[in-house]
Amino acid sequence: MNEIHSAGYRAHTNIALIKYWGKRNKELFLPVTSSLSLTLDAFYTDTHVEFDTSLTGDVFYLGGELQNEANTAKVSRFLDLFRETAGKPNLYAKVTSVNHVPTAAGLASSASAFAALAGACNLALDLQLDAQTLSTYARQGSGSASRSLLGGFVEWHKGEGDESASSYAEAFDDADWDLAMVFVIINRNAKKIDSRLGMEHTNQTSPFYALWPQEVEKDLAMIKPAIKAHDLDTVGQIAEHNAMKMHAMTIAAKPSFTYWEPASIEAMTIVRELREQGIPAYITMDAGPNVKVLCRASQAETIKAAFAPRFGADQVVIAKPGPAAHPLEKE
Ligand code: DP6
Repeated sequence: MNEIHSAGYRAHTNIALIKYWGKRNKELFLPVTSSLSLTLDAFYTDTHVEFDTSLTGDVFYLGGELQNEANTAKVSRFLDLFRETAGKPNLYAKVTSVNHVPTAAGLASSASAFAALAGACNLALDLQLDAQTLSTYARQGSGSASRSLLGGFVEWHKGEGDESASSYAEAFDDADWDLAMVFVIINRNAKKIDSRLGMEHTNQTSPFYALWPQEVEKDLAMIKPAIKAHDLDTVGQIAEHNAMKMHAMTIAAKPSFTYWEPASIEAMTIVRELREQGIPAYITMDAGPNVKVLCRASQAETIKAAFAPRFGADQVVIAKPGPAAHPLEKE
């Protein structure tokens, strides 16, 4: 008789206001700096995992499609963490994952994916790891996934030395105030340099990287009281400056690279025009051309309308603060 242990979990994506950009330990995904993010409601991943004693290997479906060996191997390495903890090294699983993204926007995120998978494994194997410990597992799938287990504003502590357990994410503020993030989706034509490669190349070759850890430390110290005070302007200014410093480092890498496209700069110009009209709106960007705008939820529609003529209304998505990762109801 085969034995089955299954569970489903949902995790929302997160966008960092103070970025994680560089690892001090690649194997354990230990970051150079702490970082701070906002979990968002609009984009999420639902994952079901079924550990089954009759399986002879792992199987991975994403969006209904059976995944190739390389993608399955990534999931398998991650499942190994949970199998080891459970003391069941040969218990294979079928993983079924669906990314919920409103448009075909290239927003599918490794953050929500590994957070959902971590939550599902913890539950299916009845490991009862608390959110903090679980975040150290999610981190080892993708650094930013550590933050997607929690809702609202989340801080990921860089931790000490090579101690995996010391580098975890923690809820910082529930973000239950007039806050939103507007996504301006800019389709990419340029060849993708993913965040893993981009941060390593920056770390190794950008002369400005030496300044990054101290800048992040200052930004974190300033943004935390501003978040607690619900001071959107200060939060936005610090976040925008932090993102610009990250992108400036990539331009100064050798060889130089940038995630910006001409349309990204157009979108940033619109953000500055909104500010000139007295509407608080602040830019952040990650390892891609999309521009994300931190703003008041009550003004998000006005802001969306400012981008729609140039980018198309369906390419502008409003996201509100999102919840912590949670189990899916059993069908
Ligand atoms: C720019 O978490 O995707 O979004 O740990 O190598 O999987 P890996 O990288 P990832 O990097 C995210 C980079 C970022 C900033 C951030 O989310 O903090």
